[in-house]
Amino acid sequence: MATKLKLAVIGDPHIAIPYGDPDPRLEIDPGRKLHGLSVELIHATVDAINAAGDIDAALVLGDLTRDSELFNHEVARAELARLRMPFYLVAGNHDRLHKRPKGVSYPDEPHLDTRAFVNFYRGAGLPGDSTRYAVELPGGVVLIVLDSTWSLKQLKQEKGNTKLQDHGWVSKAQRLWLDDVLSNVRGSGRLPLVAVHHTIMAHSPAERKKHLLRPFFASWRARGSRKLRRVLADHRVPLVLSGHIHAQSVNVQDGITNLTTAASVCYPHAWRELVFENDCIHTTSHPLAAIPSCMTLQESSRRWLAEGMAQMVEQHSRRIPLLARLSSGLHDFIQDTGWWPRFCDGTLAGFRVDKKSIPNGNPMLKLVYKRITNILNEYGAWKTKRPDPNTLEIPLVD
Ligand SMILES: [Fe+2]
Ligand SMILES: [Fe+2]
Repeated sequence: MATKLKLAVIGDPHIAIPYGDPDPRLEIDPGRKLHGLSVELIHATVDAINAAGDIDAALVLGDLTRDSELFNHEVARAELARLRMPFYLVAGNHDRLHKRPKGVSYPDEPHLDTRAFVNFYRGAGLPGDSTRYAVELPGGVVLIVLDSTWSLKQLKQEKGNTKLQDHGWVSKAQRLWLDDVLSNVRGSGRLPLVAVHHTIMAHSPAERKKHLLRPFFASWRARGSRKLRRVLADHRVPLVLSGHIHAQSVNVQDGITNLTTAASVCYPHAWRELVFENDCIHTTSHPLAAIPSCMTLQESSRRWLAEGMAQMVEQHSRRIPLLARLSSGLHDFIQDTGWWPRFCDGTLAGFRVDKKSIPNGNPMLKLVYKRITNILNEYGAWKTKRPDPNTLEIPLVD
Protein backbone atom coordinates (compact mmCIF):
# COMPACT_ATOMS: atom_id res chain seq x y z
CA MET A 1 0.00 0.00 0.00
CA ALA A 2 1.49 3.34 -1.00
CA THR A 3 2.00 5.86 1.80
CA LYS A 4 0.72 9.25 0.72
CA LEU A 5 1.52 11.32 3.78
CA LYS A 6 3.08 11.08 7.24
CA LEU A 7 1.85 13.82 9.54
CA ALA A 8 3.02 14.59 13.10
CA VAL A 9 0.47 16.14 15.45
CA ILE A 10 1.43 18.17 18.54
CA GLY A 11 -1.12 19.11 21.22
CA ASP A 12 -1.27 22.33 23.26
CA PRO A 13 2.33 23.34 24.19
CA HIS A 14 1.25 26.11 26.66
CA ILE A 15 4.75 27.59 26.81
CA ALA A 16 5.28 29.49 30.06
CA ILE A 17 8.78 30.62 30.94
CA PRO A 18 9.41 31.77 34.52
CA TYR A 19 8.83 35.48 34.97
CA GLY A 20 10.57 36.33 38.21
CA ASP A 21 12.08 33.71 40.47
CA PRO A 22 10.00 31.96 41.61
CA ASP A 23 7.01 32.78 39.40
CA PRO A 24 3.87 32.01 41.45
CA ARG A 25 1.76 32.06 38.28
CA LEU A 26 3.38 28.82 37.16
CA GLU A 27 1.93 27.11 40.22
CA ILE A 28 -1.68 28.13 39.57
CA ASP A 29 -2.50 24.94 37.70
CA PRO A 30 -0.63 22.40 39.84
CA GLY A 31 -0.10 18.98 38.39
CA ARG A 32 -2.22 19.38 35.30
CA LYS A 33 -0.30 21.72 33.00
CA LEU A 34 3.41 21.37 33.76
CA HIS A 35 4.04 25.01 32.92
CA GLY A 36 7.47 25.00 34.55
CA LEU A 37 8.62 22.20 32.21
CA SER A 38 6.75 23.42 29.11
CA VAL A 39 9.87 24.50 27.20
CA GLU A 40 11.69 21.22 27.83
CA LEU A 41 8.56 19.31 26.83
CA ILE A 42 8.07 21.05 23.49
CA HIS A 43 11.83 20.84 22.87
CA ALA A 44 11.79 17.05 23.43
CA THR A 45 8.64 16.69 21.29
CA VAL A 46 10.29 18.52 18.38
CA ASP A 47 13.43 16.40 18.81
CA ALA A 48 11.36 13.19 18.70
CA ILE A 49 9.51 14.26 15.54
CA ASN A 50 12.77 15.28 13.84
CA ALA A 51 14.32 11.95 14.87
CA ALA A 52 11.44 10.02 13.27
CA GLY A 53 13.12 11.03 10.02
CA ASP A 54 10.37 10.61 7.47
CA ILE A 55 7.59 12.95 8.64
CA ASP A 56 6.30 15.11 5.78
CA ALA A 57 4.56 17.83 7.80
CA ALA A 58 3.59 18.74 11.37
CA LEU A 59 0.48 20.29 12.85
CA VAL A 60 0.28 22.13 16.20
CA LEU A 61 -3.25 22.12 17.62
CA GLY A 62 -3.18 25.55 19.33
CA ASP A 63 -2.68 27.00 22.83
CA LEU A 64 0.95 27.75 22.11
CA THR A 65 1.47 29.77 25.27
CA ARG A 66 0.14 30.24 28.76
CA ASP A 67 -2.03 33.23 27.84
CA SER A 68 -0.68 34.69 24.59
CA GLU A 69 2.17 36.63 26.23
CA LEU A 70 4.65 37.92 23.62
CA PHE A 71 7.64 36.66 25.66
CA ASN A 72 6.17 33.14 25.64
CA HIS A 73 5.28 33.31 21.92
CA GLU A 74 8.91 34.19 21.19
CA VAL A 75 10.00 30.92 22.80
CA ALA A 76 7.19 28.95 21.09
CA ARG A 77 8.16 30.31 17.66
CA ALA A 78 11.86 29.53 18.21
CA GLU A 79 11.12 25.98 19.41
CA LEU A 80 8.74 25.19 16.54
CA ALA A 81 11.22 26.63 14.02
CA ARG A 82 13.44 23.65 14.93
CA LEU A 83 11.02 21.30 13.15
CA ARG A 84 12.76 20.04 10.01
CA MET A 85 9.53 19.78 8.00
CA PRO A 86 6.81 22.30 7.10
CA PHE A 87 4.49 22.88 10.04
CA TYR A 88 1.10 24.52 10.51
CA LEU A 89 -0.65 26.14 13.46
CA VAL A 90 -4.21 26.09 14.74
CA ALA A 91 -5.24 29.07 16.91
CA GLY A 92 -6.34 28.15 20.45
CA ASN A 93 -8.20 30.03 23.14
CA HIS A 94 -4.87 30.82 24.86
CA ASP A 95 -3.62 32.46 21.64
CA ARG A 96 -5.94 35.40 22.23
CA LEU A 97 -6.04 38.41 24.52
CA HIS A 98 -7.66 37.31 27.77
CA LYS A 99 -9.21 39.00 30.72
CA ARG A 100 -7.72 37.25 33.70
CA PRO A 101 -8.03 37.95 37.41
CA LYS A 102 -5.25 39.78 39.26
CA GLY A 103 -2.33 37.52 40.11
CA VAL A 104 -2.89 35.35 37.04
CA SER A 105 -2.02 37.75 34.23
CA TYR A 106 1.20 39.61 33.43
CA PRO A 107 -0.32 43.11 33.20
CA ASP A 108 2.79 44.99 32.07
CA GLU A 109 3.72 42.59 29.27
CA PRO A 110 2.46 42.76 25.68
CA HIS A 111 -0.01 40.03 24.70
CA LEU A 112 -0.94 39.02 21.15
CA ASP A 113 -4.50 39.20 19.87
CA THR A 114 -5.49 37.55 16.61
CA ARG A 115 -4.09 40.22 14.26
CA ALA A 116 -0.77 40.34 16.12
CA PHE A 117 -0.74 36.52 16.30
CA VAL A 118 -1.10 36.29 12.52
CA ASN A 119 1.65 38.84 11.95
CA PHE A 120 3.92 37.05 14.40
CA TYR A 121 3.54 33.56 12.86
CA ARG A 122 3.07 34.47 9.17
CA GLY A 123 5.48 32.21 7.28
CA ALA A 124 6.37 30.47 10.56
CA GLY A 125 3.34 28.23 10.94
CA LEU A 126 0.67 30.31 9.24
CA PRO A 127 0.76 30.21 5.45
CA GLY A 128 -1.25 33.40 4.91
CA ASP A 129 -2.85 36.29 6.73
CA SER A 130 -5.57 34.42 8.58
CA THR A 131 -6.02 31.84 11.32
CA ARG A 132 -8.43 30.03 8.99
CA TYR A 133 -6.79 28.62 5.90
CA ALA A 134 -6.38 25.65 3.58
CA VAL A 135 -2.99 24.32 2.58
CA GLU A 136 -1.85 21.56 0.26
CA LEU A 137 0.02 18.67 1.91
CA PRO A 138 1.83 15.84 0.10
CA GLY A 139 -0.22 12.92 -1.23
CA GLY A 140 -3.21 14.95 -2.39
CA VAL A 141 -4.29 15.81 1.18
CA VAL A 142 -5.58 19.32 1.89
CA LEU A 143 -5.32 20.54 5.47
CA ILE A 144 -8.17 22.90 6.33
CA VAL A 145 -7.76 24.85 9.57
CA LEU A 146 -10.64 26.58 11.36
CA ASP A 147 -10.47 29.14 14.16
CA SER A 148 -12.84 28.29 17.03
CA THR A 149 -11.74 31.05 19.43
CA TRP A 150 -13.64 34.09 20.74
CA SER A 151 -12.04 37.54 20.65
CA LEU A 152 -12.72 39.99 23.48
CA LYS A 153 -14.55 42.13 20.91
CA GLN A 154 -16.85 39.23 20.01
CA LEU A 155 -17.40 38.57 23.71
CA LYS A 156 -18.54 42.17 24.16
CA GLN A 157 -21.33 41.39 21.73
CA GLU A 158 -22.20 38.46 24.05
CA LYS A 159 -22.78 40.97 26.88
CA GLY A 160 -19.08 40.80 27.81
CA ASN A 161 -19.39 37.35 29.34
CA THR A 162 -15.70 36.66 29.90
CA LYS A 163 -16.52 33.16 31.15
CA LEU A 164 -16.92 32.29 27.49
CA GLN A 165 -13.36 33.24 26.55
CA ASP A 166 -12.13 29.65 26.86
CA HIS A 167 -15.16 28.25 25.04
CA GLY A 168 -15.19 27.60 21.33
CA TRP A 169 -17.51 28.52 18.50
CA VAL A 170 -17.60 28.11 14.75
CA SER A 171 -19.44 30.96 13.08
CA LYS A 172 -21.80 30.75 10.13
CA ALA A 173 -19.27 32.67 8.04
CA GLN A 174 -16.67 29.98 8.74
CA ARG A 175 -19.11 27.18 7.89
CA LEU A 176 -19.91 28.84 4.57
CA TRP A 177 -16.20 29.28 3.83
CA LEU A 178 -15.58 25.64 4.75
CA ASP A 179 -18.42 24.43 2.53
CA ASP A 180 -16.85 26.28 -0.38
CA VAL A 181 -13.34 24.97 0.26
CA LEU A 182 -14.59 21.39 0.68
CA SER A 183 -16.53 21.53 -2.61
CA ASN A 184 -13.36 22.59 -4.31
CA VAL A 185 -11.18 19.94 -2.62
CA ARG A 186 -13.60 17.10 -3.25
CA GLY A 187 -14.29 18.36 -6.80
CA SER A 188 -10.61 18.01 -7.60
CA GLY A 189 -10.36 14.49 -6.12
CA ARG A 190 -8.22 15.47 -3.13
CA LEU A 191 -8.67 14.34 0.48
CA PRO A 192 -9.74 16.95 3.06
CA LEU A 193 -8.34 16.87 6.59
CA VAL A 194 -9.82 19.40 9.03
CA ALA A 195 -8.27 20.80 12.22
CA VAL A 196 -9.93 22.98 14.86
CA HIS A 197 -8.81 23.68 18.43
CA HIS A 198 -12.08 22.86 20.26
CA THR A 199 -13.82 19.52 19.91
CA ILE A 200 -16.81 19.11 17.62
CA MET A 201 -18.57 16.29 19.47
CA ALA A 202 -18.67 14.93 23.02
CA HIS A 203 -15.57 13.26 24.43
CA SER A 204 -17.05 12.32 27.79
CA PRO A 205 -20.45 11.40 29.23
CA ALA A 206 -20.35 14.54 31.40
CA GLU A 207 -20.99 16.76 28.37
CA ARG A 208 -24.60 15.68 28.07
CA LYS A 209 -27.36 17.98 29.28
CA LYS A 210 -28.18 17.88 33.01
CA HIS A 211 -25.07 15.85 33.90
CA LEU A 212 -23.77 16.84 37.34
CA LEU A 213 -20.27 17.58 35.97
CA ARG A 214 -21.39 19.33 32.79
CA PRO A 215 -20.44 22.86 33.98
CA PHE A 216 -16.81 21.72 34.25
CA PHE A 217 -16.71 20.50 30.65
CA ALA A 218 -18.95 23.07 28.95
CA SER A 219 -15.93 24.76 27.36
CA TRP A 220 -14.77 21.66 25.49
CA ARG A 221 -17.08 21.45 22.49
CA ALA A 222 -17.37 24.36 20.06
CA ARG A 223 -20.71 26.09 19.84
CA GLY A 224 -22.24 25.45 16.41
CA SER A 225 -20.57 22.04 16.13
CA ARG A 226 -23.77 20.25 15.12
CA LYS A 227 -24.16 22.55 12.10
CA LEU A 228 -20.45 22.23 11.42
CA ARG A 229 -20.74 18.42 11.40
CA ARG A 230 -23.50 18.69 8.82
CA VAL A 231 -21.13 20.51 6.45
CA LEU A 232 -18.34 18.02 7.15
CA ALA A 233 -20.65 15.03 6.62
CA ASP A 234 -21.98 16.48 3.35
CA HIS A 235 -18.43 16.40 2.00
CA ARG A 236 -17.52 13.05 3.62
CA VAL A 237 -14.69 14.51 5.72
CA PRO A 238 -13.26 11.44 7.49
CA LEU A 239 -11.20 13.07 10.23
CA VAL A 240 -11.22 16.25 12.31
CA LEU A 241 -8.22 16.84 14.60
CA SER A 242 -8.68 18.81 17.82
CA GLY A 243 -6.64 19.83 20.86
CA HIS A 244 -7.92 21.79 23.87
CA ILE A 245 -9.08 18.91 26.10
CA HIS A 246 -5.51 17.76 26.86
CA ALA A 247 -6.32 14.08 26.38
CA GLN A 248 -5.92 11.23 23.93
CA SER A 249 -9.53 10.77 22.92
CA VAL A 250 -11.76 9.88 20.02
CA ASN A 251 -15.42 9.86 19.14
CA VAL A 252 -17.25 9.13 15.92
CA GLN A 253 -20.49 10.81 14.88
CA ASP A 254 -22.20 11.46 11.54
CA GLY A 255 -19.45 9.39 9.90
CA ILE A 256 -16.78 11.83 11.13
CA THR A 257 -13.96 10.86 13.49
CA ASN A 258 -12.97 13.60 15.94
CA LEU A 259 -9.53 12.73 17.31
CA THR A 260 -7.90 14.76 20.07
CA THR A 261 -4.22 14.75 20.96
CA ALA A 262 -2.93 15.29 24.50
CA ALA A 263 -1.17 18.56 25.32
CA SER A 264 2.62 18.36 25.13
CA VAL A 265 2.57 20.12 28.52
CA CYS A 266 0.31 17.49 30.18
CA TYR A 267 0.48 13.79 30.93
CA PRO A 268 0.93 11.64 28.83
CA HIS A 269 2.97 14.19 26.78
CA ALA A 270 2.24 12.26 23.58
CA TRP A 271 2.52 13.40 20.00
CA ARG A 272 0.78 11.50 17.26
CA GLU A 273 1.90 10.10 13.97
CA LEU A 274 -0.75 9.85 11.26
CA VAL A 275 0.06 7.73 8.22
CA PHE A 276 -2.24 8.28 5.26
CA GLU A 277 -2.50 5.41 2.83
CA ASN A 278 -4.92 4.83 0.01
CA ASP A 279 -7.69 3.26 2.06
CA CYS A 280 -6.86 4.09 5.68
CA ILE A 281 -5.33 6.58 8.11
CA HIS A 282 -3.24 4.76 10.76
CA THR A 283 -2.55 6.62 13.97
CA THR A 284 0.18 5.95 16.54
CA SER A 285 0.80 7.67 19.89
CA HIS A 286 4.31 8.56 21.04
CA PRO A 287 4.44 9.52 24.75
CA LEU A 288 7.73 11.16 25.78
CA ALA A 289 9.65 8.88 28.12
CA ALA A 290 11.89 11.51 29.73
CA ILE A 291 13.13 15.10 29.64
CA PRO A 292 16.38 16.33 31.25
CA SER A 293 14.59 17.66 34.38
CA CYS A 294 12.50 14.54 34.82
CA MET A 295 13.87 11.16 33.79
CA THR A 296 10.74 9.42 35.09
CA LEU A 297 8.36 11.66 33.15
CA GLN A 298 5.52 9.17 32.58
CA GLU A 299 5.39 7.89 36.13
CA SER A 300 5.90 11.29 37.82
CA SER A 301 3.58 13.25 35.58
CA ARG A 302 0.84 10.63 35.93
CA ARG A 303 1.08 10.97 39.71
CA TRP A 304 1.06 14.81 39.56
CA LEU A 305 -1.99 14.72 37.32
CA ALA A 306 -3.86 12.34 39.64
CA GLU A 307 -2.94 14.56 42.61
CA GLY A 308 -3.95 17.73 40.72
CA MET A 309 -7.40 16.36 39.86
CA ALA A 310 -7.90 15.00 43.39
CA GLN A 311 -6.96 18.43 44.83
CA MET A 312 -9.48 20.09 42.54
CA VAL A 313 -12.24 17.70 43.66
CA GLU A 314 -11.27 18.34 47.28
CA GLN A 315 -11.36 22.13 46.84
CA HIS A 316 -14.77 22.03 45.15
CA SER A 317 -16.27 19.64 47.70
CA ARG A 318 -15.05 21.86 50.56
CA ARG A 319 -17.36 24.59 49.29
CA ILE A 320 -20.44 22.33 49.45
CA PRO A 321 -21.68 22.19 53.09
CA LEU A 322 -22.82 18.54 52.90
CA LEU A 323 -19.52 17.40 51.37
CA ALA A 324 -17.07 19.64 53.25
CA ARG A 325 -16.20 17.09 55.95
CA LEU A 326 -15.73 14.34 53.35
CA SER A 327 -13.39 16.37 51.17
CA SER A 328 -10.06 14.83 52.22
CA GLY A 329 -11.48 11.30 51.94
CA LEU A 330 -12.81 12.15 48.48
CA HIS A 331 -9.35 13.43 47.52
CA ASP A 332 -7.74 10.05 48.32
CA PHE A 333 -10.58 8.04 46.76
CA ILE A 334 -10.43 9.93 43.42
CA GLN A 335 -6.63 9.80 43.33
CA ASP A 336 -6.51 6.06 44.01
CA THR A 337 -8.94 5.20 41.19
CA GLY A 338 -6.56 6.56 38.52
CA TRP A 339 -9.66 7.83 36.68
CA TRP A 340 -8.28 11.11 35.35
CA PRO A 341 -4.83 9.93 34.19
CA ARG A 342 -6.56 7.10 32.34
CA PHE A 343 -8.98 9.57 30.76
CA CYS A 344 -6.02 11.68 29.61
CA ASP A 345 -3.84 8.85 28.28
CA GLY A 346 -6.79 7.26 26.48
CA THR A 347 -6.86 3.98 28.44
CA LEU A 348 -10.18 4.39 30.26
CA ALA A 349 -11.90 1.60 28.29
CA GLY A 350 -12.69 -1.24 30.70
CA PHE A 351 -12.28 1.07 33.71
CA ARG A 352 -14.54 0.21 36.64
CA VAL A 353 -14.33 1.15 40.29
CA ASP A 354 -15.25 -1.82 42.42
CA LYS A 355 -18.08 -0.86 44.77
CA LYS A 356 -16.28 -2.88 47.46
CA SER A 357 -13.63 -0.12 47.56
CA ILE A 358 -16.23 2.39 48.80
CA PRO A 359 -15.23 3.38 52.35
CA ASN A 360 -17.48 2.16 55.14
CA GLY A 361 -19.35 4.71 57.17
CA ASN A 362 -22.71 6.30 57.74
CA PRO A 363 -25.46 6.06 55.06
CA MET A 364 -24.85 9.64 53.90
CA LEU A 365 -21.16 8.93 53.27
CA LYS A 366 -22.01 5.72 51.41
CA LEU A 367 -24.52 7.56 49.25
CA VAL A 368 -21.98 10.20 48.21
CA TYR A 369 -19.33 7.63 47.34
CA LYS A 370 -21.86 5.52 45.44
CA ARG A 371 -22.88 8.55 43.37
CA ILE A 372 -19.25 9.36 42.57
CA THR A 373 -18.49 5.73 41.73
CA ASN A 374 -21.45 5.67 39.33
CA ILE A 375 -20.15 8.78 37.57
CA LEU A 376 -16.64 7.33 37.23
CA ASN A 377 -17.98 3.99 36.01
CA GLU A 378 -20.14 5.77 33.46
CA TYR A 379 -16.90 7.20 32.05
CA GLY A 380 -15.44 3.69 31.82
CA ALA A 381 -18.54 2.35 30.06
CA TRP A 382 -18.68 5.33 27.68
CA LYS A 383 -15.05 4.92 26.64
CA THR A 384 -15.40 1.14 26.32
CA LYS A 385 -17.94 1.73 23.53
CA ARG A 386 -15.52 3.92 21.55
CA PRO A 387 -12.38 3.04 19.57
CA ASP A 388 -8.95 3.04 21.18
CA PRO A 389 -7.57 6.57 20.61
CA ASN A 390 -3.97 5.37 20.75
CA THR A 391 -4.05 2.83 17.91
CA LEU A 392 -6.85 4.10 15.75
CA GLU A 393 -7.37 3.13 12.10
CA ILE A 394 -9.72 5.37 10.14
CA PRO A 395 -11.03 3.87 6.91
CA LEU A 396 -11.10 6.14 3.87
CA VAL A 397 -14.15 5.31 1.82
CA ASP A 398 -15.12 7.38 -1.14
FE1 LIG B 1 -7.59 25.36 24.65
FE1 LIG C 1 -4.93 23.95 26.13
